[in-house]
Amino acid sequence: MSRFHVLPAARLVGSVNIPGDKSISHRAVMLGALADGTTRIQGFLEGEDCLATMRAVRELGVRVDRPGSGEVLVHGVGMRGLRAPTQCLDMGNAGTAMRLFMGLLSAQGFDSELIGDESLMRRPMERAAKPLREMGARITTRDGKPPVLIQGGSALHGIDYTMPVASAQVKSSVLLAGLYAAGPTTVVETAVTRDHTERMLQSFGCSVSARDGVVTLQPPRALQATDIAVPGDVSSAAFFIVAACIGASEPFTVRGVGINPTRTGILDMLALMGADLRLINHRNCGAEPVADVEIRPAPLHGVRVPERLVPLAIDEFPAFFIAAACAEGETLVTGAEELRVKESDRISAMARGLAAVGISHEVLPDGLRVEGGRIGGGTIDSRGDHRIAMAFAIASLRATEPIEILDTANVATSFPGFANLANSAGLRISELGG
Ligand code: S3P
Repeated sequence: MSRFHVLPAARLVGSVNIPGDKSISHRAVMLGALADGTTRIQGFLEGEDCLATMRAVRELGVRVDRPGSGEVLVHGVGMRGLRAPTQCLDMGNAGTAMRLFMGLLSAQGFDSELIGDESLMRRPMERAAKPLREMGARITTRDGKPPVLIQGGSALHGIDYTMPVASAQVKSSVLLAGLYAAGPTTVVETAVTRDHTERMLQSFGCSVSARDGVVTLQPPRALQATDIAVPGDVSSAAFFIVAACIGASEPFTVRGVGINPTRTGILDMLALMGADLRLINHRNCGAEPVADVEIRPAPLHGVRVPERLVPLAIDEFPAFFIAAACAEGETLVTGAEELRVKESDRISAMARGLAAVGISHEVLPDGLRVEGGRIGGGTIDSRGDHRIAMAFAIASLRATEPIEILDTANVATSFPGFANLANSAGLRISELGG
């Protein structure tokens, strides 16, 4: 089993460029597959999750070329051009791929079956299946989990769906099915979640309106291929931003970060803790805003995180809890029960890890209370969760002893090359095992 052996690091120095956004890379391949013409993607995240999406669209009869690093050409087959897969579609570790494909495949003329790795096979899929059934889809899950069987040939109709959970995956799944529905599809969000699907559908020429949490899609006749430049993933950037907050003695810059306002909760949460963050070099990457994030040394203090920020930072809590462990005083996160159904139960995995390195905390049903303190060393079971592994790697900037992180292969799902990049900025990670 692969693992990280991480020695205490003195400090973080310099700057880093962040690999492409995972959410946007998945969507670019999927919509490119359904478009008329060739979609050129630049900055595609070549992580295992997005490669699973790429393999799945190939299995559905779409030609995908990779002429260079981060460059992908998707030769769209049109909305009606997908062909029946000859085997189960394996989504690996990628919940986004599975839930978005559920919407897309519900509307096709053929049957399909979606499976994944051990972690994904334990994750809840009814949250997407339920609204899709309301649209007329025929989907079965096993006790609410994969394998997901989708019967083809259903005629879908638009619905007006109020989301019971804050989930961009569910919203996107319904919108993708809505592309094929009779009549408009409306999704009402009770909390703001990432809006990459809405933005990208517009780039492909589809009419989507979004206002005050109400998203309405008019089914298009066709999608038109387009060029997509993928910004750096703020969720990956978060590890370096927190690392700089706890371990840089000079300004540190994380370059090319997507700063879509539905994703920047982590910046707000760190600013509340006293972090000195500046966004510079603002630009646009297609439909998405981008900037460089400059972090200057500043002491962190504990905070009570406003619950409205939780969905805007949902993937960043592993990194954030490390910031909390290094802050003066207590940090309280509530309203974050969704963390329990991510790649691992992240409340429990972080609590165990914090205990292993000597940080006092209290586990809550929907969050965690963390008392800032001195990080020792210890062994962390990442539970195969990429973000748990990377969070404890950056904790080494404040650790007094080595940290051993188990089961780290899945770091490659979202952040291939993480250890090398981190080491280039001053961390001391050895990747061991096969
Ligand atoms: C994602 C949405 C979020 C996030 C996941 C990516 C997306 O999941 O945690 O990593 O690309 O739509 P939920 O929709 O379950 O909140």
